Amino acid sequence: MNDLNIGVIGAGGRGALAHNAHRPDEGVRLVAGADTRPAALSTFKEKFGPDVFVTDDYRKLLALDSIQAVFVTSPDFLHEEHAVAALEAGKHVYLEKPMAITIEGCDRILRVAYEKKAKLYLGHNMRHMSFVLKMKELIDRGAIGEVKAGWCRHFIGYGCDAYFKDWHAEREKSTGLLLQKGAHDIDVLHWLCGGYSERVTALGALSLYDQITDRRDPSKPADASWHDENWPPLSQKQLNPIIDVEDLSMMLMRLNNGVLASYQQCHYTPDSWRNYCIIGSEGRLENFGDVPGECSVKLWNHRESYNPEGHEAFAIPAEAGTHGGADPKIVAEFVRYVREGGSIKTSAVAARNSVAAGCMATQSLRNGGQPADCPPVPDELAAYFNADVN
Ligand SMILES: NC(=O)c1ccc[n+]([C@@H]2O[C@H](COP(=O)([O-])OP(=O)(O)OC[C@H]3O[C@@H](n4cnc5c(N)ncnc54)[C@H](O)[C@@H]3O)[C@@H](O)[C@H]2O)c1
Repeated sequence: MNDLNIGVIGAGGRGALAHNAHRPDEGVRLVAGADTRPAALSTFKEKFGPDVFVTDDYRKLLALDSIQAVFVTSPDFLHEEHAVAALEAGKHVYLEKPMAITIEGCDRILRVAYEKKAKLYLGHNMRHMSFVLKMKELIDRGAIGEVKAGWCRHFIGYGCDAYFKDWHAEREKSTGLLLQKGAHDIDVLHWLCGGYSERVTALGALSLYDQITDRRDPSKPADASWHDENWPPLSQKQLNPIIDVEDLSMMLMRLNNGVLASYQQCHYTPDSWRNYCIIGSEGRLENFGDVPGECSVKLWNHRESYNPEGHEAFAIPAEAGTHGGADPKIVAEFVRYVREGGSIKTSAVAARNSVAAGCMATQSLRNGGQPADCPPVPDELAAYFNADVN
């Protein structure tokens, strides 16, 4: 098998995900990092040795012929620019979610990857989370009959720390949190329910964090680290100078297979987890907790007024690695895909369609809840990218 040399654009922050790929004994190496923060580049060099190439200009990294693949883990508003440049430079690309902050941006990325025949892999790591995989397995084996509805409630206790102190809080840089954060859950709902949103509607508001007047000096770096003692939400300090995204939003989706779905997101709950409920013609499934080793999936498949235990319960065993063990698994799948090909769990078309639903729902909520239609992916692009998805 050929050796694989990898570069990382956005080496700090989420760039740490790429560290999972570095296995010199197996011929896979992180050899270059680009970041605009000098501290991120020094950390990268400390970790991977004095010979790695570091730069504050990602184009210099892409000019290296010795690199075959690139992780794009920069902020959302740079995904389109960075992914298109990497694909045009002939690199295979791992691109973090959301694919881009506009539908047009996603379609441009798809088009360039299609023309270059490059491998484009989207970082929807929830497709590698064991509780999601258990729900998918149960649905696929008919445990709840034909899927009719999918609901997701998303509690984000760390919402202010992570999303209201830096670029995430600005429409210009994220479009909105229904896209930025919801892209994961819209994708999971689409996957579990077997279709893509064709029509969406949403309501939402900036309902709390606009009341906080303590804002960061724009000339100072943002600190988006999480602290449980930042409570209650209105005691938060040093918020982003601009906040024009919603902190509470609820969207409804009609999928192209007739399934109806909903997604609710709140950024000031005391707890942090996702709760999915999938209802079929012969039962329903729900997860309780989302941390492997602590969570379970329950199945109800006959009539009874109330049974908190479920008719069958599936404990989800503990896993090593960040994001419930999903990060090492998704990186291993990307590396295998680039080196050997084969089928993959994440999907560029699905990632684009989660952006489409998130963007159109954001438009709807800023437009008084008016329903909005999601444009489909052009047929030739869908056929090309779907061929690799299992
Ligand atoms: N899949 C997941 O579970 C998951 C988790 C966290 C973040 N993410 C995604 O990862 C991405 C990065 O998120 P983050 O929180 O690490 O953001 P961040 O703001 O910390 O940025 C990541 C890195 O990119 C660098 N950067 C900024 N501008 C750059 C430029 N022009 N060139 C090169 N590097 C640049 C930053 O300095 C930083 O080190 C986002 O798209 C986010 O949605 C995904």
